[in-house]
Amino acid sequence: MSFTIVEPAPARLNRSELAVPGSRPELFEKAAAGPADVVFLDLEDAVAPDDKVQARKNIIEALNDIDWGGKTLSVRINGLDTHYMYRDVVDVLEQTGERLDLIMIPKAGTAADIYAIDMLVTQIEDAKARQKKIGFEIIIETALGMQNVAEIAAASRRNESLHFGVADYAASTKARTTVIGGPNALYGVLTDPEEGPGEGPREGKTRDYHWGDMWHYAVSHMVVAARANGLRPIDGPFGDFSDPDGFRAQANRAACLGCEGKWAIHPSQTAIANEVNSPSDAEVERAKRILEAMEQAQKEGKGAVALDGRLIDIASIKQAEVMVRKAEQIAAAGG
Ligand code: COA
Ligand code: MG
Repeated sequence: MSFTIVEPAPARLNRSELAVPGSRPELFEKAAAGPADVVFLDLEDAVAPDDKVQARKNIIEALNDIDWGGKTLSVRINGLDTHYMYRDVVDVLEQTGERLDLIMIPKAGTAADIYAIDMLVTQIEDAKARQKKIGFEIIIETALGMQNVAEIAAASRRNESLHFGVADYAASTKARTTVIGGPNALYGVLTDPEEGPGEGPREGKTRDYHWGDMWHYAVSHMVVAARANGLRPIDGPFGDFSDPDGFRAQANRAACLGCEGKWAIHPSQTAIANEVNSPSDAEVERAKRILEAMEQAQKEGKGAVALDGRLIDIASIKQAEVMVRKAEQIAAAGG
């Protein structure tokens, strides 16, 4: 272990995060009643400029009046390059009670962006004697933000999670995409032509084309910055909400890289995100057996042992503990 200890952000379930435009208050009660772990009420890009003021009022009312149960609640404020942002923070924090948990900061570019909002939030919390300390969710969705992701992740003690905002990231990097957050058929490799070695596993085969995941670097890079700072990495939107299989595949590959949740831009995606980001019964069972086997191994003075014909060692304990703890959290939240 390094002498530097990474302090984890407050433990919250964040398997799914439902986006709800602040300009559509008729959706709020539905979001509150649905299965999303986190709901973010949006003031930014899902709200047209002419609707910003009314959306802010809607959100303030919803934070004060609606029963959100045990959900984590967030408000996505406008970017620091707009004149909406200061009023988003001031009005929402001054005119609501203690229900809000998080503020989502879009298009973060530098650590100073986070610092500026931290200062504003800290002053309002202080002046209004707010008891609950507001946490930050930060969207990494520009080339600048990705370049500075490590500093951004470390910029405030309020930071809880980093989110990969794939649509704006594609625009910012001028990447070529088709579906928001989906793959692109042009991003792939063609296997060598047959003139190559005529023997071995390729013998008699025709050329294959393998699709790649064009978001691999971005998601993986963000995961590292998040985890190195104790934050939750969360994968962003998948735009084609009529394609549940596509959504599930993108959610699974983000989870493989270390993300612990994914956005839902339509309620139909929420349950899939919850399922993908929950350990299965079999996984939890195996994790418990790993912990038992390692406890026994340590009693016998061994650092590594075999379980079901596979190596397990000290590192396996950590993974197994994380899984068992996650399962307990999910059970405590009602499954
Ligand atoms: N939260 C809660 N409920 C929602 C919802 C949301 N984000 N989106 C849709 N619903 C509800 C609808 O009201 C409808 O309810 P009903 O069965 O009681 O009538 C049901 O879910 C099915 O919705 P559907 O008719 O298929 O969708 P729509 O045409 O009303 O809206 C979108 C589609 C994509 C415009 C809408 O889902 C949306 O605005 N999503 C969020 C987009 C967003 O915030 N993007 C910014 C982040 S990327
Ligand atoms: Mg965006």
